[in-house]
Amino acid sequence: MAHVNIFDTTLRDGEQSPGVNLNQLEKLEIAKQLERLGIDVMEAGFPASSQGDFEGVRQIARQIKNVSVTGLARAKKSDIDTAWEALKEGADPRLHVFLATSPIHMTYKLKKTPEQVIQLAEDMVRYSRQNFPKVEWSAEDASRSDLDFLVKIIEKVIAAGASVINLPDTVGYTTPAEYGKMFKYIKENVRNIDNVTLSAHCHDDLGMAVANTIAAIENGATQVEGTINGIGERAGNAALEELAVALTIRKDFYPYTTNLVLKEVKRTSDLVSNLTGMAVPRNKAVVGQNAFAHESGIHQDGVLKNASTYEIITPELVGVQSNNLVMGKHSGKHAFSDKIKQLGYELSEDKLKEAFTAFKRLTDRKKEVTDDDLFTILTEIQTHS
Ligand code: KIV
Ligand code: ZN
Repeated sequence: MAHVNIFDTTLRDGEQSPGVNLNQLEKLEIAKQLERLGIDVMEAGFPASSQGDFEGVRQIARQIKNVSVTGLARAKKSDIDTAWEALKEGADPRLHVFLATSPIHMTYKLKKTPEQVIQLAEDMVRYSRQNFPKVEWSAEDASRSDLDFLVKIIEKVIAAGASVINLPDTVGYTTPAEYGKMFKYIKENVRNIDNVTLSAHCHDDLGMAVANTIAAIENGATQVEGTINGIGERAGNAALEELAVALTIRKDFYPYTTNLVLKEVKRTSDLVSNLTGMAVPRNKAVVGQNAFAHESGIHQDGVLKNASTYEIITPELVGVQSNNLVMGKHSGKHAFSDKIKQLGYELSEDKLKEAFTAFKRLTDRKKEVTDDDLFTILTEIQTHS
């Protein structure tokens, strides 16, 4: 089975979420949890962006020893030198250097010709290799770049010493079919591509980041980049927990392995959410509060008979204690009587009917009926007898 390396950028692209600002201690705490989660590469920050980020990356590189720690740099000698200072004490340091390759970015942002961009990319990768044993080069806005231009520049940066080539969908514009096709084209047309790792990096502007990442894997990517809870610039990055679970439970379709320890997923998600202040939406796949909750009577009845009727993921797989049958207006008698038993009550058939009627009456006024509400109903019923 082919192996896929997980590159986590929660502490760099994730921290680029508007409104998020982690201090050094918070970064280190998340880094330690990411190490427990079993990621392969950790992008700890962008050292040239601020003194605080430089220190944060340096601390992480010093303390995290089971994961390759990297930092981002623009194609500038000063960024690369700063990144080396921050990362040099790491156990397996690598640089992530990027340069835009799309006509839009080259014309309006870089104000450089395609030839100048190729020269700069090549020069900066060669310069990085003077210190860094490993260099990842990213073609920013790859998904809006000309494919033959990508082929040309990738051949040059590989020859200059890059060992990972990342093709980001920087603006979340691509679709699975199109992104997959780009990886296939690069695989088939770049002469020295088999000597390097191909990496995918997707944003979620159209809600397709995870699907696009999977399409890249199917077409030759052996490294995928993303963040916990999918946080990141604008609509965020590919959510690693979703990707990991999809690859795990759909082995029939996706015969790939990762080093992730899935039972650490929920704990990691909670920590990232608490420290970044980015709340996880209730209905978020895998880690949302509703991901293992069932409200309708039909679903609750099914789950009580056999959880696989409405659960494709067991809560335990991702470190969630149990599923949750929410007591609300759609709940049926089966789930209600089960809940009553869980609360320690044995009711006669008549009393159960009475309690169920009182419960249903309450659900018209209250969205979610709590255990306390049920205790009140049960106490009233028993007082009547
Ligand atoms: O989305 C992007 O293009 C990036 C690059 C810096 C790799 O985050
Ligand atoms: Zn990005």
